[in-house]
Amino acid sequence: MTAQRVCALSDLEQDAAVRFEVDGVAMAVVLDSNGEVHAIGDTCTHGDISLAEGFIDGDTLECWAHGSAFSLRTGKPLNLPAYEPVPVFAVVIDGDDVIIDPAVKVEL
Ligand code: FES
Repeated sequence: MTAQRVCALSDLEQDAAVRFEVDGVAMAVVLDSNGEVHAIGDTCTHGDISLAEGFIDGDTLECWAHGSAFSLRTGKPLNLPAYEPVPVFAVVIDGDDVIIDPAVKVEL
């Protein structure tokens, strides 16, 4: 797996999630209201639901299906029914490029 440019920073809408696949790894990429970009695993750990279809609230992404909210910083669910975390990927911003390597997970 190698780092790839997934989009331009200027393509991301604040407080919205976008699904990307990098080397077969699905991730939800979010530009939060502080201007930080996050990338977490896109599949909810409670069911086969794309988290990119969910709702952003601060630094959490809530699954629309049953309401588990995942921290964009730690990947941990903050409420049931999900109880397993999703991976968090390191994001590099290079000029206007958003670059993510699915092999590089944030160590918590
Ligand atoms: S599928 Fe996401 S909380 Fe149930």
